[in-house]
Amino acid sequence: MSSTLDAPLATPAPETGPGALAVTQERVPTRRRYLMCEPRFFTVEYVINPWMRPDQPVSTERAVEQWTELKRTYERLGHQVETIEPQPGLPDMVFAANSGTVIDGRVLGARFRAEQRSAEAEHYRRWFLEHGYRSVVMPEKINEAEGDFAWTGGLLLAGTGFRTDPGAHAEAQEVLGVPVVSLRLVDPRYYHLDVALFVLDDQSERPLVAYYPEAFSAGSQRVLRRLFPDAVIANDADAECLGLNGVSDGRNVVLPKEATHLAERIAERGFEPVLVDISELRKSGGGPKCCTMELRG
Ligand code: ARG
Repeated sequence: MSSTLDAPLATPAPETGPGALAVTQERVPTRRRYLMCEPRFFTVEYVINPWMRPDQPVSTERAVEQWTELKRTYERLGHQVETIEPQPGLPDMVFAANSGTVIDGRVLGARFRAEQRSAEAEHYRRWFLEHGYRSVVMPEKINEAEGDFAWTGGLLLAGTGFRTDPGAHAEAQEVLGVPVVSLRLVDPRYYHLDVALFVLDDQSERPLVAYYPEAFSAGSQRVLRRLFPDAVIANDADAECLGLNGVSDGRNVVLPKEATHLAERIAERGFEPVLVDISELRKSGGGPKCCTMELRG
């Protein structure tokens, strides 16, 4: 038996040499501006993805609590959060990411595939006009915005297969003036790009992403390996809690709390996982990123 005085002090991990942590880079956060919409009218009353089960109970109150905590989390991290007024009869309006892609202050709005969500696009379009955006273009093709578009800082990764029309990819390239890379989604559970992939670092020369390979076609998996050979690869469990629906500021990475494997992998790369409870919104097929549109420039 050893006394407390004899107990050895914990040895700090060496910074270099054998036993050093696998952290290779100091990650630097940048201040972000987000648009969010309180889930005041949130329900699950129709089925447009495999997560939605109108026969299962949903608590609007819990959804509001979890959303409020997500918003506070962003504010605590130093980010600016704008809000748009939710509308009765539009239970999915909380998923702000689906209603606009904003790069360098240019806005490409949304055109929803499901009739039940189509009216959301116009509310967001008005928000942009009322908040000083000069260049607001509404798409002709089906376009679910950041649900299917991920900006790496140099490339716009664009998903198709379930929601966004491949023609919307070409439209995005013309309207936003950024190079677009099309990727094909093949698993109906991962019906949007933002539940299969997210960008961890959009500020450096070599952008870093995390993704779940099985959500993509064989050809798109090859494209991703070619573009991002050092990507963080998610496993089944990460995908099944919608763990790929993360939001990174370059250092802090907001993730659903169940995504523990993914959190460990990104911590090894020098990021700071910030876990949130988003279980109520997952009943509609959403996570932190779905609730968050980034306003760039
Ligand atoms: N119920 C919504 C839908 O199926 C969820 C959208 C989630 N948003 C997202 N960016 N993945 O359209």
